[in-house]
Amino acid sequence: MRKKVSIVGAGNVGGSVAQRLAETGVTDIVLADVFDGYAQGKALDLAQAGPVVGYDCAITGATLPADYHLTADSDVVVFTSGAPRKPGMSRDDLLATNQKIVVDNVSQIVRHSPQCVLVMVNNPLDAMAHLAFKTAGFPKARVVGQAGILDTARFRTFLAKELHVSVRDVNAYVLGGHGDDMVPLVSYTTVGGVPVSRLIAPERLAAIVDRTRKGGQEIVDLLKTGSAYQAPAAATTQMVLSILLDQKRLLPCSTYLEGEYGITDLFVGVPCKLGAAGVEQVIEIDLAPDERDALHRTASSVRSLVHKLGL
Ligand code: LAC
Repeated sequence: MRKKVSIVGAGNVGGSVAQRLAETGVTDIVLADVFDGYAQGKALDLAQAGPVVGYDCAITGATLPADYHLTADSDVVVFTSGAPRKPGMSRDDLLATNQKIVVDNVSQIVRHSPQCVLVMVNNPLDAMAHLAFKTAGFPKARVVGQAGILDTARFRTFLAKELHVSVRDVNAYVLGGHGDDMVPLVSYTTVGGVPVSRLIAPERLAAIVDRTRKGGQEIVDLLKTGSAYQAPAAATTQMVLSILLDQKRLLPCSTYLEGEYGITDLFVGVPCKLGAAGVEQVIEIDLAPDERDALHRTASSVRSLVHKLGL
C-alpha cells in the first residue's frame, strides 16, 4: 500500500508541497483546508496533471472540519495552515492568530492519525511546533518543525552566488530559532570542502549572514501580498521524504530539546536524523563559543514566545 501524507492548509506552501510530493509518486496525498472547495479544487487540478507528468498517486481534497476523517491513518501530516506574514509584520506577529488554528487542527488530526509524524510549518515556527507537541501529546520524536533546511538553503544560495559556484557544492548549517537571530554556522560551512572563511572576506561573509537572517523578510517585502513558498515547500518535502522513505537524512530541523546544546524544554533548530520514527537522533556538534552564545540567544527569543502561549 502506498504511504499517506495529509497536508493541512492548501495555500501556497501546502499546494506546493502537494505538487512536489505528487511528482515523486511515493505517497497518496490529502490536501485539506477550511475554505469550502478550495482544497478540492487544488487536489483535482493536481490529479489532472498526473496523466501528463506521469504520476498516479491518489490526491484527495478535504474541507475542514467536515472531512477530518479523510486524513485518517496518515503516515505524516504537514501543517501549513495559518496566516502568512504581510509587509511590516514579523513572524512573531502571527502568534495569536495561528495559536488557535494549530490547537484546533492538531487535536482533530491526531485523533484520526494517532501514529503519524507531525511536520509543522506554521509561524512563528518553533513556538507553533511546541504548541503542537503539547496539544498532540505525542512522543517528541513525532513532532518536528521545518525551518533550518530553508534557512540553510538561503545561506547556500547567497554563498554560491558570491563565489560563482554551484549551490550543490556549498555545504552549510543554519541552526537556532526561525527568527532574525537564527545562527548560520560559518565554522561548519564549506565550499567544495574548503572552509568558507578562506574564500570570502569577513565583512562580505557578515553581510551574507545578515541577508540570510532576513531572507524571509526580503521576499515578503518583494511579494507584498504573502511570503515565500517555493523554498519552504521544497524544504518541507525533503523532510517528509526522509521520514516516509526512512532515509535517515541529517537535516537541520526544529526539535524538542531536553538538555542537548544546554537547552531544555524548547523547540530549537539543530541537526537531526530524520527517519520513519520521526526525529530519531539529535546530533550534537561542537560549537565555537560565539556560536553557542548565539544559539542560546535565539533560544531565549523562542522561550519568550512559548511563555506568551502560556506553555
Ligand atoms: C520564510 C517564512 C515562510 O522564512 O517563514 O520565508
